[in-house]
Amino acid sequence: MHDRDVAHGFTSVDTQPRPTDWVQVLDRLGAEPFYAAYKQRLQELLHAGGGGLFLEVGAGTGDAAAAVRSRWGAEVVAVDSSVTMITQARARGLPHVAVADGHRLPFAACRFDGAWADRVLQHVADPGRVLDEMLRVVRPGGRVALADPDYDTQVLDIDDQDLARRVLRFRADVGLRNGSLAHRHAGLLAARGLHDITLEARTLVVRDASAADNVMGLRTWAHTAAARGHLDPMDADRFVAQFDDAVRAGRFTYAVTFFLTVGTLPPSD
Ligand SMILES: C[S@@+](CC[C@H](N)C(=O)[O-])C[C@H]1O[C@@H](n2cnc3c(N)ncnc32)[C@H](O)[C@@H]1O
Repeated sequence: MHDRDVAHGFTSVDTQPRPTDWVQVLDRLGAEPFYAAYKQRLQELLHAGGGGLFLEVGAGTGDAAAAVRSRWGAEVVAVDSSVTMITQARARGLPHVAVADGHRLPFAACRFDGAWADRVLQHVADPGRVLDEMLRVVRPGGRVALADPDYDTQVLDIDDQDLARRVLRFRADVGLRNGSLAHRHAGLLAARGLHDITLEARTLVVRDASAADNVMGLRTWAHTAAARGHLDPMDADRFVAQFDDAVRAGRFTYAVTFFLTVGTLPPSD
């Protein structure tokens, strides 16, 4: 089994030691202005304002689905592979929720006016298949929207830039199943015949190290890499020391770019 295939984090929330911790992670991220802003933009690009019936794949706690209902007046079906997440979404008042795997959506073809997946394709075993499923259940002329960070775009200011690159590379290539796919989402949509493809990039810049530490877990990535045999443990210690030096010197900077990609399905013949 490839290291990348090991179930961890959002690939398999329900099998984690404390699944509800992942609910709290989503709540912390959702409260960040950067996330709130790009999520609203994704909804605009989806054309949710015209009403209709939309599907969110990998909806997590369902907060974005709830926002689409209240802000845009559209109806939303929210699915997630995690029972923990769907239980939360239901408890938060979403009426149409289901536990479902994006690789096998339990819906008839052409059922929805649009579908979106936000920070989901980076975690799934077969992103092309999940996208094919989303396209199958959206009607001709409907919209499909994808959002993900692309970890190939990461930068971090610590003294040893080679060490920074090695740790960030681990995050991109091993820490996530598809950590550097987002810049290829437009190509995936184009190859499937979508048109009006819009691609917008938003860069998350983290200058507050406590945000980086608490929200993104960045300070721990080197030791995660060491624990999984991808980095010398002494280099992991050095990474943390240099991370803390950068914080003390007031020059801590981490950035990663998110891509928002939306397209329209061809009309029916
Ligand atoms: C990073 S969270 C994003 C949640 C939500 N879209 C948001 O923006 O807050 C990824 C979500 O995808 C779900 N997920 C992972 N693999 C999935 C799959 N194969 N099918 C459906 N959902 C999946 C996880 O359970 C998790 O809730």
